[in-house]
Amino acid sequence: MAERRGLDGSRVLVTGGAGFIGSNFVHHFLGRFPASHVVVLDALTYAGRRENLDGIPARSLTFIHGDIRDPAAVAQAMAGCDIALNFAAESHVDRSIETPGEFIQTDVFGVFVLCEEARRVGLRRFIQVSTDEVYGEVLEGHSTEDWPLNPRSPYAASKAGGDRLAYAYWATYGLPVVVTRCSNNYGPRQYPEKLVPLFVTNAIDDEPLPVYGTGQNRRDWLHVEDHCAALVALLEHPGIEGETFNIGAQHELDVLAITGTILKLLGKPASLVRHVEDRPGHDRRYAVDSSKLARLTGWKPAIAFEDGIRRTVEWFRQNEAWWRPIKAGEFRAYYERMYGQRKVLKEAGA
Ligand code: NAD
Ligand code: TYD
Repeated sequence: MAERRGLDGSRVLVTGGAGFIGSNFVHHFLGRFPASHVVVLDALTYAGRRENLDGIPARSLTFIHGDIRDPAAVAQAMAGCDIALNFAAESHVDRSIETPGEFIQTDVFGVFVLCEEARRVGLRRFIQVSTDEVYGEVLEGHSTEDWPLNPRSPYAASKAGGDRLAYAYWATYGLPVVVTRCSNNYGPRQYPEKLVPLFVTNAIDDEPLPVYGTGQNRRDWLHVEDHCAALVALLEHPGIEGETFNIGAQHELDVLAITGTILKLLGKPASLVRHVEDRPGHDRRYAVDSSKLARLTGWKPAIAFEDGIRRTVEWFRQNEAWWRPIKAGEFRAYYERMYGQRKVLKEAGA
């Protein structure tokens, strides 16, 4: 059983801490445990932004620009830490369809490098941040943690590899691993390739909103702050090594419903909606049952979707200085590759 030492005053490694969820976690965690110290190891890929950590006091943060696939960088970052959370990943399904090799490298091999070093230094907890996408599409009901894994995109398959590899390090070597499988997050600092920030920023600029296929694909939407709170609850809980926890909001919406909400909040017309050729292998629905987490820790989502999405839209409205340079950089070429040649199925109102 994990020794209960409390989190304040701990030294925590956050890999991928310059990305969307990782950086929100660093802000959340240090807000609650200001006497702790966070070490961020991040390769600053297209998705990693150093400025996502602006505002964190220098005394609370060590930032290391390095790769989780590099044992020397991992050893440097993990030295002296008692806890680690791995957020580092290639995380976008559409990019995994384009370049699957990078996903296998980071999301599987990178987890191996982290687990090896964690075993050597003797961490008291290692959280592998996995995803509900490892279950594949769940057409009916809600997947519990013992549901079969049936990943259907290179992203989901590589996450499933990292998820089970971390578990194997618990089963084989006793590494104190906890695996989490969260549903779709939304919130501030999300890279604008993902549905919510892409549609919000496109709509602000009166650009079309490219809905894949029918727009009836369903996801369970959780505000990133609620995800962070769930992770803290799991960090604090003793005796759960080797276990897996779903994290979800029980707030299912399809793409058209999200699109409508964004347009309404921004006061933009439905004519911006454009149905385009579908994503290959597009999972129709994800839905997790997170009652195991709720039973054990009492966690439940605190942010209602209507409130969370309103605050998120407002964040993007107020922080153009964050996303405009992103959309002007590497993103432009990506957008052209991904959407430029895509067949238009239906213009709104057609
Ligand atoms: P993101 O793409 O915004 O950020 C990923 C971060 O990892 C970036 O800062 C990037 O620079 C870094 N990174 C990538 N490869 C690296 C490497 N080889 N070494 C070191 N750093 C590297 O992703 P996100 O949306 O913040 O997701 C974070 C984690 O949560 C991922 O593991 C993802 O699979 C998981 N997850 C995401 C969601 C979601 O809705 N976004 C839901 C469930 C689980
Ligand atoms: P996304 O944010 O890529 O997350 P996921 O990993 O769940 O696929 O996409 C969320 C949903 O939105 C998914 O059903 C695909 C859809 N989508 C579009 O319709 N158009 C888009 O341009 C994007 C990026 C996503």
